[in-house]
Amino acid sequence: MPSLDTLFTAAKAIQARAYAPYSRFKVGAAIVTPNGQVFTGCNVENAAYPVGSCAEAGAISAMLAAGESRIAEIVVMGEGDNLVTPCGGCRQRIREFAAGDTPIHIAGPEGIRKSFTLEELLPFSFGPDNLGAR
Ligand code: THU
Repeated sequence: MPSLDTLFTAAKAIQARAYAPYSRFKVGAAIVTPNGQVFTGCNVENAAYPVGSCAEAGAISAMLAAGESRIAEIVVMGEGDNLVTPCGGCRQRIREFAAGDTPIHIAGPEGIRKSFTLEELLPFSFGPDNLGAR
Protein backbone atom coordinates (compact mmCIF):
# COMPACT_ATOMS: atom_id res chain seq x y z
CA MET A 1 0.00 0.00 0.00
CA PRO A 2 1.50 3.38 -0.98
CA SER A 3 2.20 5.66 1.97
CA LEU A 4 0.28 8.85 2.63
CA ASP A 5 3.44 10.67 1.63
CA THR A 6 3.35 8.96 -1.77
CA LEU A 7 -0.26 10.03 -2.21
CA PHE A 8 0.63 13.58 -1.17
CA THR A 9 3.47 13.67 -3.71
CA ALA A 10 1.15 12.40 -6.45
CA ALA A 11 -1.43 15.09 -5.64
CA LYS A 12 1.23 17.78 -5.75
CA ALA A 13 2.58 16.59 -9.09
CA ILE A 14 -0.84 16.55 -10.73
CA GLN A 15 -1.80 19.92 -9.23
CA ALA A 16 0.99 21.44 -11.31
CA ARG A 17 -0.77 20.17 -14.44
CA ALA A 18 -4.10 21.80 -13.62
CA TYR A 19 -5.63 23.91 -16.37
CA ALA A 20 -6.95 26.87 -14.41
CA PRO A 21 -6.39 30.04 -16.48
CA TYR A 22 -9.61 31.66 -15.21
CA SER A 23 -9.58 31.08 -11.46
CA ARG A 24 -5.80 30.69 -11.28
CA PHE A 25 -6.58 28.21 -8.54
CA LYS A 26 -4.91 24.89 -9.21
CA VAL A 27 -6.17 21.75 -7.50
CA GLY A 28 -4.79 18.22 -7.54
CA ALA A 29 -6.36 15.04 -6.22
CA ALA A 30 -4.85 11.60 -5.68
CA ILE A 31 -6.85 8.48 -4.91
CA VAL A 32 -5.51 5.19 -3.66
CA THR A 33 -7.64 2.10 -4.16
CA PRO A 34 -7.85 -0.81 -1.69
CA ASN A 35 -5.34 -2.76 -3.81
CA GLY A 36 -2.84 0.11 -3.73
CA GLN A 37 -3.27 1.67 -7.15
CA VAL A 38 -2.97 5.45 -7.33
CA PHE A 39 -5.04 7.64 -9.66
CA THR A 40 -4.75 11.39 -10.01
CA GLY A 41 -6.70 14.28 -11.45
CA CYS A 42 -6.52 18.05 -11.75
CA ASN A 43 -9.10 20.73 -12.35
CA VAL A 44 -9.74 21.53 -16.00
CA GLU A 45 -11.43 24.86 -16.60
CA ASN A 46 -13.15 26.10 -19.73
CA ALA A 47 -13.90 29.45 -21.33
CA ALA A 48 -17.53 28.45 -20.86
CA TYR A 49 -17.08 28.52 -17.09
CA PRO A 50 -19.71 25.97 -15.97
CA VAL A 51 -18.17 23.30 -18.16
CA GLY A 52 -15.02 23.17 -16.05
CA SER A 53 -14.37 20.11 -13.92
CA CYS A 54 -12.83 19.52 -10.51
CA ALA A 55 -9.66 17.64 -9.68
CA GLU A 56 -11.58 14.99 -7.76
CA ALA A 57 -13.80 14.29 -10.76
CA GLY A 58 -10.71 13.74 -12.92
CA ALA A 59 -9.16 11.33 -10.43
CA ILE A 60 -12.41 9.39 -10.15
CA SER A 61 -12.65 9.15 -13.95
CA ALA A 62 -9.08 7.83 -14.16
CA MET A 63 -9.88 5.24 -11.49
CA LEU A 64 -12.98 4.01 -13.30
CA ALA A 65 -11.18 4.01 -16.65
CA ALA A 66 -8.62 1.61 -15.16
CA GLY A 67 -11.34 -0.73 -13.96
CA GLU A 68 -11.21 0.24 -10.28
CA SER A 69 -14.18 1.56 -8.37
CA ARG A 70 -13.34 1.90 -4.66
CA ILE A 71 -11.59 4.78 -2.95
CA ALA A 72 -9.51 3.78 0.09
CA GLU A 73 -8.09 7.27 0.72
CA ILE A 74 -7.92 10.55 -1.14
CA VAL A 75 -5.67 13.60 -0.91
CA VAL A 76 -6.88 16.97 -2.19
CA MET A 77 -4.34 19.73 -2.64
CA GLY A 78 -5.33 23.34 -3.26
CA GLU A 79 -3.73 26.75 -3.12
CA GLY A 80 -3.60 29.40 -0.41
CA ASP A 81 -3.80 29.20 3.36
CA ASN A 82 -7.37 27.96 3.66
CA LEU A 83 -8.35 24.32 3.83
CA VAL A 84 -9.36 23.29 0.31
CA THR A 85 -11.97 20.71 1.14
CA PRO A 86 -13.86 19.10 -1.75
CA CYS A 87 -16.80 21.13 -3.06
CA GLY A 88 -20.29 19.83 -2.36
CA GLY A 89 -20.58 18.14 -5.73
CA CYS A 90 -17.26 16.36 -5.27
CA ARG A 91 -18.22 15.17 -1.78
CA GLN A 92 -21.13 13.44 -3.45
CA ARG A 93 -18.89 12.10 -6.23
CA ILE A 94 -16.53 10.63 -3.64
CA ARG A 95 -19.53 9.23 -1.74
CA GLU A 96 -20.40 7.03 -4.70
CA PHE A 97 -17.11 5.11 -4.42
CA ALA A 98 -16.14 5.42 -0.76
CA ALA A 99 -17.36 4.51 2.72
CA GLY A 100 -18.29 6.78 5.62
CA ASP A 101 -14.94 6.16 7.30
CA THR A 102 -12.87 6.76 4.14
CA PRO A 103 -10.17 9.34 4.93
CA ILE A 104 -10.12 12.59 2.95
CA HIS A 105 -6.83 14.39 3.51
CA ILE A 106 -6.60 18.10 2.79
CA ALA A 107 -3.15 19.28 1.80
CA GLY A 108 -1.22 22.43 1.08
CA PRO A 109 2.15 22.47 -0.64
CA GLU A 110 3.90 21.92 2.70
CA GLY A 111 2.01 18.75 3.60
CA ILE A 112 -1.27 17.35 4.93
CA ARG A 113 -3.14 20.05 6.87
CA LYS A 114 -6.15 18.16 8.15
CA SER A 115 -7.85 14.83 7.66
CA PHE A 116 -11.57 14.16 7.68
CA THR A 117 -13.73 11.14 7.09
CA LEU A 118 -16.27 11.26 4.28
CA GLU A 119 -18.99 11.03 6.94
CA GLU A 120 -17.67 14.21 8.55
CA LEU A 121 -17.76 16.11 5.27
CA LEU A 122 -21.03 14.66 4.02
CA PRO A 123 -23.19 13.50 6.93
CA PHE A 124 -26.54 11.78 6.42
CA SER A 125 -25.72 11.43 2.76
CA PHE A 126 -27.75 10.02 -0.08
CA GLY A 127 -26.03 7.19 -1.89
CA PRO A 128 -26.28 3.99 -3.91
CA ASP A 129 -27.93 2.17 -0.99
CA ASN A 130 -30.90 4.55 -1.18
CA LEU A 131 -31.59 3.15 -4.64
CA GLY A 132 -31.06 -0.43 -3.61
CA ALA A 133 -27.76 -0.51 -5.47
CA ARG A 134 -24.68 -2.23 -4.05
N1 THU B 1 -11.89 22.98 -7.49
C1 THU B 1 -11.53 21.66 -7.52
O1 THU B 1 -10.92 21.19 -8.48
N2 THU B 1 -11.85 20.90 -6.46
C2 THU B 1 -12.48 21.36 -5.34
O2 THU B 1 -12.83 20.57 -4.48
C3 THU B 1 -12.71 22.79 -5.17
C4 THU B 1 -12.64 23.58 -6.43
C5 THU B 1 -11.55 23.81 -8.65
C6 THU B 1 -12.71 24.19 -9.52
C7 THU B 1 -12.20 25.45 -10.19
O3 THU B 1 -11.46 25.09 -11.34
C8 THU B 1 -11.27 26.06 -9.17
O4 THU B 1 -10.98 25.03 -8.24
C9 THU B 1 -11.85 27.24 -8.44
O5 THU B 1 -13.09 26.95 -7.92
